Amino acid sequence: MTRSRAPPPASPDPSTLVGRLLFTGASLDPDNRCRASGYAVVVTDAAFTDSEKATLHFPGGSAEFPILRSVDGADAVDISTFTKQTGLTTLDQGFVNTASTRSGITYIDGDQGILRYRGYAIEDVAANCSYLETAWLLIYGELPTPDQLGEFDERIRRHTLLHEDLKRFFAALPHTAHPMSVLSSAVSALSTYYEDSLNPKDPEQVEISTIRLLAKMPVIAAYAHKKALGQAFLYPDNSLSFVDNFLKLNFGTLAEPYEVNPVLSKALERLLILHEDHEQNASTSTVRLVGSTEANLFSSVSAGINALYGPLHGGANEAVLTMLKQIRDSGQGVGRFVERVKNKEDGVRLMGFGHRVYKNYDPRAKLVKESADEVLAALGVSDPLLDIAKELEQIALDDDYFKERRLYPNVDFYTGVIYKAMGFPSRMFTVLFAIGRLPGWIAHWREMTTDPATKIGRPQQLYTGPAARDWPTGR
Ligand code: ACO
Repeated sequence: MTRSRAPPPASPDPSTLVGRLLFTGASLDPDNRCRASGYAVVVTDAAFTDSEKATLHFPGGSAEFPILRSVDGADAVDISTFTKQTGLTTLDQGFVNTASTRSGITYIDGDQGILRYRGYAIEDVAANCSYLETAWLLIYGELPTPDQLGEFDERIRRHTLLHEDLKRFFAALPHTAHPMSVLSSAVSALSTYYEDSLNPKDPEQVEISTIRLLAKMPVIAAYAHKKALGQAFLYPDNSLSFVDNFLKLNFGTLAEPYEVNPVLSKALERLLILHEDHEQNASTSTVRLVGSTEANLFSSVSAGINALYGPLHGGANEAVLTMLKQIRDSGQGVGRFVERVKNKEDGVRLMGFGHRVYKNYDPRAKLVKESADEVLAALGVSDPLLDIAKELEQIALDDDYFKERRLYPNVDFYTGVIYKAMGFPSRMFTVLFAIGRLPGWIAHWREMTTDPATKIGRPQQLYTGPAARDWPTGR
């Protein structure tokens, strides 16, 4: 296997050092010692080897930690014995420097704008694979043979029906319910129908749960949409492909036949593929954390849907459209809006911009932008919101505020404009993201449950509350 890691620099930059893992903001002295509050992390200049260790000197002692090799990207200091060795804990708010697991599914290089699924560039996957083929790749680790793909597709088509009782579940919710809340509730409720196959340690039960989730979650999503519209639910049409079936369930009615528009189908398939996985993002980490308790796959994915709902994560696609409409309706122009963002007025942010990992153009955003132009042209739709988005992007990319902070459009910047052109209401946008992300959640949950190193996820804390005090007399 080739290794593409650059050798460690002779005079390391503090931001590249293992010391940053422990002491954010620490600086280096001439001996490459990372200084902070009397602590020092020694970093050697020699190339990392498997036996190489990082040494931490702290008041009262020192401790050594192995440096673990990655196939690509940053190596890791293994601090699993940290508290045992030092009596200290580590603080890394937001997990900015901390790997929560080993994983072999997806690789991101945020500086170079690289995303790979199981080693394949996202551009190649998006150009050559279907949604289900990509799902197979993520879940099982290799591209499927035609027979494997055919069988997988067939199994999913045969599992699309929801229990009729579960359909009644939708009637109990208000028609104003946000479809993301409906989706997470109904996915959680799915587990109540399959109590005989929820054991995370039984590969056959995991397999059937995988198929059921992939088959039924799009149907639930479409019913959440229909519920909001006040229209009758359609039964799945198993003669159709995964994406075409989903479009029919959303846009077909009982009153007339539904013709799938191939432009919509192709564009939606591509968007779903681009969302299928993104390594240890907030919702995937949630799925893994919940799954680490040996909770079943449905419960874990339901938690992931709730994590995705937030506007700083998957909810950004809905928030982008709201932002574009506000700019249009305010009549103040894009320039004024950008000024408000830069002045941090009322905490206003440029939604769809910035990313925890990408400090370069998100490779998915490039592909989505191409799709936006294609879809709108093919549908003959001219949307002033797309013009506003493009103007906003250009102004932001040319502006020092965004350049200095390395803020670029992320995957969500243009998706909303496309989904809107397809006819989805904005409240469905994050639901579409969830369907895209489902194979990634499943792949990570399965990777975690079969990894012998897995432990229940249970972080520590730096306690900052009151010290022990006497109970007030007389109380
Ligand atoms: N607009 C304006 N300023 C921003 C933005 C933005 N979208 N994002 C970050 N910044 C600024 C911050 O104000 C901060 O500036 P400062 O140094 O002057 O204080 C600096 O850039 C760093 O920001 P952080 O919040 O520390 O960056 P972090 O990596 O924690 O946040 C996040 C990443 C949450 C994605 C952030 O960029 C954001 O809020 N973006 C908008 C929401 C969004 O589009 N989310 C979708 C992400 S992609 C996904 O989940 C599918």
